[in-house]
Amino acid sequence: MTLIEASLGELIADLQKKHGRDLSNYRLSCLQRRVALRMSVLSLSTLDQYMTRLADDPGEIDRLLDAVTIHVTEFFRDQDVFEAISNDILPATVERKHHSPSRTIRFWSAGCSTGEETYSLAIITLQYLQKHDVDLDLEIYGTDISKEACTFARAGVYPERKIERIPVGLRQEYFEPVEDGFIVAADVKRRVRFSVHDLFSAPPLSLLDIVMCRNVLIHFNNAVRNDVLGRFHTSLEDSGILILGKSEAVMGTALKLYRLIDPRNKIYQKIILRSS
Ligand SMILES: C[S@@+](CC[C@H](N)C(=O)[O-])C[C@H]1O[C@@H](n2cnc3c(N)ncnc32)[C@H](O)[C@@H]1O
Repeated sequence: MTLIEASLGELIADLQKKHGRDLSNYRLSCLQRRVALRMSVLSLSTLDQYMTRLADDPGEIDRLLDAVTIHVTEFFRDQDVFEAISNDILPATVERKHHSPSRTIRFWSAGCSTGEETYSLAIITLQYLQKHDVDLDLEIYGTDISKEACTFARAGVYPERKIERIPVGLRQEYFEPVEDGFIVAADVKRRVRFSVHDLFSAPPLSLLDIVMCRNVLIHFNNAVRNDVLGRFHTSLEDSGILILGKSEAVMGTALKLYRLIDPRNKIYQKIILRSS
């Protein structure tokens, strides 16, 4: 263990003991980068100075947490993933639903940040259901550990620059101009629910057809990542779909839980485990 890792361990233990905030589930390298960033913003040169700052300035803990849980996102991020959902995943999901007693398609965008991913999923699904005249209800859950991100997402109002790259047809159909930008259409909003949810500790959602969790697990350490993937497996309906970020993958003990069906887009299908 390097000196910086040992000191970071001390910082993590300190935050847990004094403030009840647990950062131990995040990857050390990720924490290291974020702490370095905060130190540079504050012009501090040693970790000791930063720990003193954390003790003296209660707001700094929230700023560090915010830096660790990066909120970068955009509408239709990785467009080809959304094309694969429209072309392959939605037809198969609708087909499955025809053999299921449930008349509701249920999706979960876990670690949804400010809602762009959740609304993108809602928009392409609604578009698909309308185009193919499918008579099924749709419920999409967007969850994030950040209360501020969820509040923003719930409002569904985005500045023009955020929606610029959405194809014009979708923009005109699913967004309406308001004073401070564009609001997501009511027909989309009423199908989407946002709530604060910590993937480390909160009970997972259930009976889901798709779990989309992109660019979130990459920040977690291996043990926690496997744990969360195990809980997603429980959340999913039989043969349900898991979608990870482009630079993420199912690994380790979770490999027995999912079949990779679209390697380029990191789309997996739940394997039904038979108890022996
Ligand atoms: C980079 S954003 C990903 C947003 C979106 N999924 C995308 O790919 O565009 C990562 C999000 O994960 C959230 N996050 C980090 N730790 C979390 C946890 N323990 N539980 C739930 N969300 C978490 C962060 O707050 C952040 O909004």
